[in-house]
Amino acid sequence: MTRHLLSSADLDRHQVEEILTTAASMHDVQRRDVKKIPTLRGRTIINLFFEDSTRTRSSFEIAGKWMSADTINITGTGSSASKGESLRDTVRTIDAMGVDALVIRHRASGACHQVAQWVDASVINAGDGTHEHPTQALLDAYTLRNRIGDLDGKHVAIVGDLTHSRVFRSNVITLGRLGARVTVVAPPTLMPSGIGSWAKTDGFSTSYDLDDVLEGAVGGGVDAVMMLRVQRERMSGGYFPTAREYTVGYGLTRARLERVVEANPDIAILHPGPMNRGLEIAADAADSAQSVVLDQVSAGVAVRMAVLYHLLSGLSGEDAA
Ligand code: CP
Repeated sequence: MTRHLLSSADLDRHQVEEILTTAASMHDVQRRDVKKIPTLRGRTIINLFFEDSTRTRSSFEIAGKWMSADTINITGTGSSASKGESLRDTVRTIDAMGVDALVIRHRASGACHQVAQWVDASVINAGDGTHEHPTQALLDAYTLRNRIGDLDGKHVAIVGDLTHSRVFRSNVITLGRLGARVTVVAPPTLMPSGIGSWAKTDGFSTSYDLDDVLEGAVGGGVDAVMMLRVQRERMSGGYFPTAREYTVGYGLTRARLERVVEANPDIAILHPGPMNRGLEIAADAADSAQSVVLDQVSAGVAVRMAVLYHLLSGLSGEDAA
């Protein structure tokens, strides 16, 4: 296992499989009455979040605590970063205290790679700008495997605001490692520039037509659809005329839900959260029997326990839990 987890590309298929196997053991711990194992006793983990988060931050904190590590949360607004301290000085200051891991979320793409050059602690990317969110991709893969089985040859559609999505960037790598066929769908204005050559390298397909993909005209039948959040906070201009037009073209509406469920009642519907209900996903879809949104949240703790375990315990996966 690598010392850091900065990108989904840091993990080959074997390492992804190992983490997902360990996560299954950790999920058993999560279901116990007493959710505590001694594996990371004596380790110190700092959650350093310069961007808002509900799921990632709390699940990393819970994961560390359930594994008996000391976990501390630091946010941009509550730290000396708000007085102008640089990222380099902030992380070197914390590193000097002798901590074992820094879990970092930052608005700048590449910030975690940069931090890894400056500190002795392990660095885990908890989302850097529009770049990557590797633990999200791992928990998505874990959730999908639990719902639809082995991902080899399965077709996953990733839909929405690709330009601003670190979740999509990590998922095409991790799902690809596990043998899934991925088609990404977005309006032309939210399709990242240069995606054609990148799609060729990483082996995924692209489409502007959500209905074509959902109806199987592109890539065959769909086993799972991952709806992405429209990240209005990262948009400086108009990427689509109106919210209504976005929903008509690219939302998982009630009508689309009915069509995809009729074609495949076992389809899995994912969303990394937070959801814009009524924009990229209708409430009927988010709360449907096919939705695994809350399974993703549950898996987030188990998968992050597994990641911390592999990076920090110094033990092999067989000794987990
Ligand atoms: N999916 C995700 O990263 O959610 P949070 O922003 O709440 O952590």
